[in-house]
Amino acid sequence: MRIICTKDYEEMSLRVADLIAAQILLKPDSVLGLATGSTVAGAYDSLVERCRSGEVDFSKISTVNLDEYIGLAPDHVQSYRHYMNSHLFDHVNIDKSKTNVPSGVAAEPAEECRRYEQLIRDMGGIDLQLLGLGKTCHIGFNEPGERFETITHVVTLNEQTRKDNSRFFASIDEVPKKAVTMGIQTIMSAKTIVLAVNGEGKADALAAALQGDVKPSAPGSILQMHQNVIVVADKAALSKLA
Ligand code: F6R
Repeated sequence: MRIICTKDYEEMSLRVADLIAAQILLKPDSVLGLATGSTVAGAYDSLVERCRSGEVDFSKISTVNLDEYIGLAPDHVQSYRHYMNSHLFDHVNIDKSKTNVPSGVAAEPAEECRRYEQLIRDMGGIDLQLLGLGKTCHIGFNEPGERFETITHVVTLNEQTRKDNSRFFASIDEVPKKAVTMGIQTIMSAKTIVLAVNGEGKADALAAALQGDVKPSAPGSILQMHQNVIVVADKAALSKLA
């Protein structure tokens, strides 16, 4: 595991964008696993700029996102499909038909999970998976207690996570209670994982992920078992590492 310590969020975002840009240069038809949320937004801004300047070419890239809220249609402003379109896909030269986010409104969510997992396999697996980290130490929406061997499945969101994500909604009551998420096994199958973390509020979760016991009560700790993880975190997030 390699740890890149940055002075702040801006520098973290640039380093994450560097890694994704390098992946695209080395393999222009990469399958990128993407995340949503505040942590990764700055990296997407930087990738948009690099695409506009001709430095990065998304034309052969395919993507699969980690997760989606159940009950939110793709055009809902808080859906993760909407997030991806507005932060990245609408602004780069990607073929949108090669971008994938699980459906939050499938009639049969369990069937949607099977379809999505098979899709990732059919694409040949994920070359680089970008992750953020929840305060609960979740990765994707795999909350504490989730079995490590899960593939894409339906989860009930932890109350802490709903509270954390309520900042994007009018009230906590509007935050969906369930989501479809890639499982821990799906995530761990990616060839390279880039974990981005910033801020003091994530320091305990990051210490648990990087230095704690590897156990389902700290889902991020499984990353210690991956052969190719790059952690890009600011000083504040790394402040509780021994
Ligand atoms: C998002 C996702 C989550 C977030 C995590 C951190 O697709 O799967 O695991 O990465 O909750 O979210 P932020 O960056 O908003 O703190």
